[in-house]
Amino acid sequence: MGFEQKIQAMRIVRLDDEYHFKHFDCGDNDLNEFLLKDAKDYQRRLLAVTYLIENEDDIVAYFSLANDKISLNESTKSVWRKIKRNFPRSKHRRDYPAVKIGRLAVNKSYQGLQIGTIVMNYLKNLFKSRSRTGCAYLTVDALSKAVGFYEKNGFDYLCDKVSGQDYPTRLMYFDINRLK
Ligand SMILES: CC(C)(COP(=O)(O)OP(=O)(O)OC[C@H]1O[C@@H](n2cnc3c(N)ncnc32)[C@H](O)[C@@H]1OP(=O)(O)O)[C@@H](O)C(=O)NCCC(=O)NCCS
Repeated sequence: MGFEQKIQAMRIVRLDDEYHFKHFDCGDNDLNEFLLKDAKDYQRRLLAVTYLIENEDDIVAYFSLANDKISLNESTKSVWRKIKRNFPRSKHRRDYPAVKIGRLAVNKSYQGLQIGTIVMNYLKNLFKSRSRTGCAYLTVDALSKAVGFYEKNGFDYLCDKVSGQDYPTRLMYFDINRLK
């Protein structure tokens, strides 16, 4: 199958216990290992649900989702003021419902082809108009090396803190209400 056809043949699949993994390498051992060794167990324990974008030959990308919230405790005051401005005073709270993108990775052979962006747009639209629960924000603990990708996809920083030593991350959020 040619590369164009591989892209056109992509479909999205929810991981389950019977799923047989196809080839996947995103260039990051932790993210590879999570998919191949941990994702099914996370799913069994209802800690995260993983979705695969695949074609006949490869897993093109995967992402994992879990319920989350953004909260005043984790945010800088100025960011929280900005968040509250989006709601009338009667709806001001100390937290708002969110979904965390626990993991997102694109197979090395498909990186730089806007697949990550297609996944982000899919998630934004899913939670904007087809979610079964209220979810006003997407969140991600973005690896420092990937924050540029999330910035390009409209994510902002919730606070100034860098978490984690071996794998520094930044907590970022996307406001789903800003989509038209
Ligand atoms: C980061 C990742 C998900 C991006 O997916 P992708 O399909 O390669 O990205 P896209 O092609 O949609 O890129 C969209 C834009 O973000 C930019 N971008 C992509 N990865 C970037 C990175 N790591 N840092 C800065 N900018 C990045 C691209 O240059 C592109 O910019 P443009 O629109 O101006 O051309 C993917 O490269 C990946 O899986 N990397 C390894 C694992 C990883 O770091 N995952 C993130 C965990 S938080």
